[in-house]
Amino acid sequence: MIWFKRFLGISSTPAPKDHACWKFSGYTIEIDLQRAPELAQPGGALRLEEKGLPQRMLVVRLANGNVRAFHNRCSHMRSRRLDPIPGTNHLCCCSRQGSRFDENGKVIKGPAHSPIAVYDVEVSGAKAFISLR
Ligand code: FES
Repeated sequence: MIWFKRFLGISSTPAPKDHACWKFSGYTIEIDLQRAPELAQPGGALRLEEKGLPQRMLVVRLANGNVRAFHNRCSHMRSRRLDPIPGTNHLCCCSRQGSRFDENGKVIKGPAHSPIAVYDVEVSGAKAFISLR
């Protein structure tokens, strides 16, 4: 079924189960990690959209336990979303061409030719903060 999703450009990362697990104010995204079980394990991800966000975001728990945020827009056609690749720190475009990016946003495979923006995530207690400045 993956090929079918890719054919249609459907992301595998769902919207958060608890829509209230995050908020956006000023330039900062705040995530309540206790309400975001999607980020509990390496390879888990949250797809953040709307709520006034200037751009779609993908927040990923990396293999080393760190959390990192990415502009969720493939740099190839600039409309398709990205998903984490299980067992790696890499992302893959949801399209058939499937460009891949490393944890620093650099293209490692596929037709995309420019990197995607990466944002550090500051974790403090049970909260994660992402600055879009
Ligand atoms: S849109 Fe992502 S590889 Fe083409």
